[in-house]
Amino acid sequence: MSAGTHDVVVVANRLPVDVTIGEGGSLSFERSPGGLVTALAPVMESQGGAWVGWTGKPDIDVAPFEDETMTLWPVRLSEQEVAGFYEGFSNATLWPLYHDVIVPPEFHRAWWNTYSAINRRFATAAAQAVAPGGTVWVHDYQLQLVPAALRALRPDVKIGFFNHIPFPPLEIFTQLPWRRQIIEGLLGADLVGFQRPGDASNFLRSVRRLTGLQVRGPQVTVPGHWSRPDRTVRAQAFPISIDSAAFDRLARTPEVQERAKQIRLELGSPEVVLLGVDRLDYTKGISHRLKTFGELLEDGQLRPPEACMVQVASPSRERVEQYRQLRDEVEVTVGRINGDYGTLGRAAVHYMHHSYPMEEMAALYSAADVMLVTSLRDGMNLVAKEYVAARSDLGGALVLSEFTGAADELTQALMINPHDINGTKAKIMQAVTMSTQEKRRRMRSLRRRVLTHDVQRWADDFLGYLAMSVPTPPSDLRPG
Ligand code: F6P
Repeated sequence: MSAGTHDVVVVANRLPVDVTIGEGGSLSFERSPGGLVTALAPVMESQGGAWVGWTGKPDIDVAPFEDETMTLWPVRLSEQEVAGFYEGFSNATLWPLYHDVIVPPEFHRAWWNTYSAINRRFATAAAQAVAPGGTVWVHDYQLQLVPAALRALRPDVKIGFFNHIPFPPLEIFTQLPWRRQIIEGLLGADLVGFQRPGDASNFLRSVRRLTGLQVRGPQVTVPGHWSRPDRTVRAQAFPISIDSAAFDRLARTPEVQERAKQIRLELGSPEVVLLGVDRLDYTKGISHRLKTFGELLEDGQLRPPEACMVQVASPSRERVEQYRQLRDEVEVTVGRINGDYGTLGRAAVHYMHHSYPMEEMAALYSAADVMLVTSLRDGMNLVAKEYVAARSDLGGALVLSEFTGAADELTQALMINPHDINGTKAKIMQAVTMSTQEKRRRMRSLRRRVLTHDVQRWADDFLGYLAMSVPTPPSDLRPG
């Protein structure tokens, strides 16, 4: 295969754009905001980068094109492929398997076949885009077979892989009928990054048990064959973050601060505002959170309308059955709590099934006394970091599940086990009644961590380690 011209290529399931289909089928693309794209923009711009990904809509055929700072390289997926690769194998097999089997994963051979075929398609696109000796950074669980497929096509390039979600313990991972293929796919990379050290060690343990390869500390030796020498694959944690300074700046603007005051007025000027912000996903523990809040109302520890909860649940994966069921469950529970404890014009739970722009999110964070992050399992949880970055006033308290990646870093949060309803109730009340002085002390320490460990540092760390990985021998590739 002939090589491309881009020194750096990012491969992710989604392109960093929102696509709108106009009348007559015309397409328009708008850059979608996100930490990853912000962190990578400088390197993409200076090195003529390309981003390979799906547009998020089926059956869209678009040739690579230039965006603000990089080339966008769309990968086409048919409706049937979206069902098998994205909704099926990625989000109804791998997602629940990698999140502690909170719901049962489904294993279907047809989905696996589609997943493998689509991973090969992404690998082929990356191989066409990357320049000789270039760097390819592959992202997330949807694309775990890409590193090995790409290495087979382009042995001259450096390949990094970052898993944004947890990597499960061996005992759970081995349920997957295609466990060995997944490990071999990932071992095509030079560097495999995870959110937590625990994820990296889960992966290394699976490598040892399923392949018998030699694992020493964070390194795996993959034997070469024919003229190819042995390779070393490194696996370690690189906890992801947000664009902390930008978020901090945004939250400090007079417009956001004014909007935060207005939000409290719109809520009826309660004494206590509890906030939950999540994609509507069963991993986020939204039902556990609502149950806990309902019990605090029942016990009379919190009394509406002086206390209320705001829950933003942004729509997600709405064609996957488990997500539909969750939505029904959450909405029935919200209705029940409001029926029992709401009064005219004063809901106990303000529930919004929408996404909001960052400005509105920053205002909500600024308005909330207590932020509730109750995930049952979460790779990182960037909402917790956004809340901290938004609180330059050193106010507010963060209640954080110990099952998030963020819990490793945000040690001054009030830690909870969301399955322990009594324990969570006690921590919420501790947050509600905490002195201003203690809030300030905890928030200062949380902010120190979030502001010094931002997404730029994360990307630089990962790419720095990848650059240090041993170069592969020159190939006979000609620039295309
Ligand atoms: O955390 C994994 C992830 O894929 C994120 O990258 C993404 O923001 C989220 O899950 C939702 O993903 P999607 O809407 O593509 O399924």
